[in-house]
Amino acid sequence: MKQSFSITIFSFLILAFTACNNNSSMNNNTKDSAAADRSTSSSVQIPSAENFQTTIDGKQTNLYVLKNGNMQVAVTNYGARIVSIIVPDKNGNPTDVAVGYDNVADYGKGGDTYFGAVVGRYGNRIAKGKFKLDGKEYTLAVNNGANSLHGGKTGYSRVVWDAQQPNDSSVVLTYLSKDGEEGYPGNLNVKVTYTVLSNQQLKINYEATTDKSTVLNLTNHTYFNLNGQSSGTINDHLFMINASTFTPVDSTLIPTGKLETVKGTPFDFSTAKTLAATVDDSSNQQIKFGHGYDHNFVLNTKDNLKEKAAEVTGNESGIVMDVYTDQPGLQFYGGNFMDGSHTLKNGKKDDHRTAFCMETQHYPDSPNQPNFPSTTLKPGQQYQTTTLYAFSAK
Ligand code: GAL
Repeated sequence: MKQSFSITIFSFLILAFTACNNNSSMNNNTKDSAAADRSTSSSVQIPSAENFQTTIDGKQTNLYVLKNGNMQVAVTNYGARIVSIIVPDKNGNPTDVAVGYDNVADYGKGGDTYFGAVVGRYGNRIAKGKFKLDGKEYTLAVNNGANSLHGGKTGYSRVVWDAQQPNDSSVVLTYLSKDGEEGYPGNLNVKVTYTVLSNQQLKINYEATTDKSTVLNLTNHTYFNLNGQSSGTINDHLFMINASTFTPVDSTLIPTGKLETVKGTPFDFSTAKTLAATVDDSSNQQIKFGHGYDHNFVLNTKDNLKEKAAEVTGNESGIVMDVYTDQPGLQFYGGNFMDGSHTLKNGKKDDHRTAFCMETQHYPDSPNQPNFPSTTLKPGQQYQTTTLYAFSAK
C-alpha cells in the first residue's frame, strides 16, 4: 500500500516534470503548435459510437473500433468507411492521420468526397460511362462530367454494408451489389475485411464473386494527413512512389492508353521528395489536367505484396506510412478538389490539399483499354486482393 502510494507520487512528479518540459519547448518553438494540437485529446479521440447509430435504407449503421497495441482504427458500415486511424508520432503522441467526420449524417450529405470509403464497383473513371464485355455494351450511371466515377451516383460509399466484428482487431463488411445496379452486370457479393495487425499495420482484404461476367476495381479512398487531420497542407510531406511509368490522362482524367516514363517529369517519386516545387507546375500539361497530382502510377512491385509500393513521411510528426499491395496501380490524389466546404472531426475544414489518397487499384478506364491489365471477373472466379498501410515514426 505504502509502496504504491510512493510510486503514485513519483509518477505524478514525472508527469508534472514532463508537462513543464513540453510547455517550455513548445513556447520556444511555435512551429510545434501543430504538434501541440496533435497531442490534445480532442484531436485524437475516436468519435462517439452514438453519432453513428441510426437506420439508413432500413439498415442499422454503427461504428466499429479496432485496436492492436498502439494503433486504433474506427470504421463505419456506412460506405465501409474508415473514420479514424490513430497512431503515435515521433514523440509518442497519438495522432489521427485519417480525414473524416464525427457523425454518420455528414457522410451522407451531398458532394461526396469519398472520405475513407470503399469505392466500387469500379474505383476511378470509366470513359463516358460505357464499356463492352463479351460483345455486349453496358451503360453506367454517369456522375463526373461525361464519365462514371467511383461506381456511379451511389456506388458502394453511400450504402449500408452488413458488418460483423469477430474480435478486437478486425471487422468484416459485406455487400450484395445487385445485377444492374448503376448499370453493372451480375450480382456481385463483396467482402471487405479491415484488420489492425501488430506493428501498426492496417490490412485491407477485398473479396468478390459474381454470377455474370462483370468488371470491378475495388479500392479504399482514405484521405491521409500524416501530421494529423487538418494540420495544414500535405505539400511538405515526403513522397516516394515505386513506379517508373504512369498513365497520362486527357482533360477529363481518362487515360490516353499510353504508359509514360516518370523520368525528368514532376511524376518522378522514385526518390522521396515533397510536392511543393512541382504541384503547381502548370507548364506540365499533366499537372494542369490533374489540377495537381491526380494520376495512376504503374507500380514496379509487379503485384508483389512484399515489395514497398510507396512511402510517405509527415514532415512534422515523423509518422511514416508504407504502402504494400498486390494491385498493379496506385492512384495518387493530392486533395486538389478539397475546398474547405466540409467540417471535419476536430471542427476544422477540409482545406485545399490538406490530405492525400493512395488508392491501390487497377488502372482507370481499364474496361476500355485493351493494353491495361484486365478487370473482368467471371462466374466461378474468386476476386481476392490485399493492401497494407504500415505505420511507424522516426
Ligand atoms: C479521386 C479521383 C479524383 C477525385 C477524388 C474525389 O480518386 O482521382 O479525381 O474525383 O477521387 O474528389
